[in-house]
Amino acid sequence: MGSERVLLTGCGGMLGDAVFRVCSEEFDEVLATDIDLNESWLKPMDVRDIDQCEKVFTDFKPTLVIHLAALTDLEYCENNNENSWITNALGTENIGFLCKKYDATMVYISTAGIFGGKQEYFTDFDEPNPLSHYAKSKYYGECFVQKYLAKHFVFRAGWMMGGGIKKDKKFVKKIFDQIKNGKKELFIVDDKLGTPTYTVDFARSLLKVIRTKNYDLYNQVCNGSCSRLDFAKEFIKLLGLEKEIKITNVSSDFFKEEYFAPRPYSEKLVNLKLKSRNLDYMRNWKECLKEYSREFKI
Ligand SMILES: NC(=O)c1ccc[n+]([C@@H]2O[C@H](COP(=O)([O-])OP(=O)(O)OC[C@H]3O[C@@H](n4cnc5c(N)ncnc54)[C@H](OP(=O)(O)O)[C@@H]3O)[C@@H](O)[C@H]2O)c1
Repeated sequence: MGSERVLLTGCGGMLGDAVFRVCSEEFDEVLATDIDLNESWLKPMDVRDIDQCEKVFTDFKPTLVIHLAALTDLEYCENNNENSWITNALGTENIGFLCKKYDATMVYISTAGIFGGKQEYFTDFDEPNPLSHYAKSKYYGECFVQKYLAKHFVFRAGWMMGGGIKKDKKFVKKIFDQIKNGKKELFIVDDKLGTPTYTVDFARSLLKVIRTKNYDLYNQVCNGSCSRLDFAKEFIKLLGLEKEIKITNVSSDFFKEEYFAPRPYSEKLVNLKLKSRNLDYMRNWKECLKEYSREFKI
C-alpha cells in the first residue's frame, strides 16, 4: 500500500483536508490537486480540462486516484447546471478515462443525496432517485465509474462535517457563523433526516477499505442518524450555549427561497455492505461531533 502513487483531485475542500492528511501518513508519493489553490501543498488541476489532467497523469503516473473534485453547492448547481454537469459528470469521465488508460484504481465520492422519495433508510442496494442537478450529476458519475472501470470504489457520504472553520461549507459552519454574528435565535428544520459523516473517519475508513481490493460501491456514513434539528441541538450543547441560544423548529418551507434546490425528506444511509464485510470503521456521529466541535470556539 505504501508504494502507491496517489493522486487527489479537488483536494482543497472539506473532505480533501482529511484525505490529504491520512494519505500523507500512509504513502510516500501523494500529489494533491484542485482548481482553488488554498494551500501550499496543492497543485493546479481542473478536472474539466482533459489535456491538463492527462499531463498530470503522464508526469506523476498515479496508481491510485481519489477523485474528490465536484461542485457541491446545491443552489449553485441548480442555477449553473451546465457547469455542474461538466464538473461533476464530465470531470468524472475525464478522470475515469485516464485511470483506465494509466491502469490506476479510481475512488469516486458520491452522496446520500442521490436518493429521494418517501423511504427513510437506504442501503447500498436501494434504487437511487436523484432530485436536483447536483444529485443527478453525482449519480451519473457513480454509474459511469461502475460501468467503465473494473478497479473502482464508490463511497457514498452523508451530511459532511469536517475541514474546520477555514474549509467547512456545510451545516456546522452555517450554524457557527450565525452564532458568531450574534444571532440568539436559530431557525432549524425538523423535517429533514440524514446521517452525519465526519471527514476524518471517512478518510481513514476509506483507506482501510481500499486496502482489501474488494472493488465495489459502499455507503459509508457515521453510525446513528438524526434530523437537522437533533444535530443542531447537539452542536449547541457541545458549544455550551444551550442557555444563550434559542432553537426554533421550522419546516423546510421556511427556507424555500434560500435553499430552493430539491432535497429528499430523508438521506439516511445504512452501511450494509461495510457492516456485512466487517469493514465498517465509522464511529457514531455524536462522538465525532464532540471531537469536531472542539475546533469551533466562540
Ligand atoms: N459536502 C458534502 O456534504 C458532501 C456529501 C456527500 C458527498 N460529497 C462529495 O465529496 C466530495 C468532496 O466534497 P467536499 O465535501 O470536500 O466539498 P468541497 O469542500 O466543495 O470540495 C470540493 C473541491 O473540489 C473543487 N473543484 C470544483 N470544481 C473543480 C474542478 N473543475 N477541478 C478541480 N477541482 C474542482 C472545489 O473548489 P471550489 O471550492 O473552488 O469549488 C473544492 O475545493 C465531492 O465529490 C462531493 O460531491 C460531499
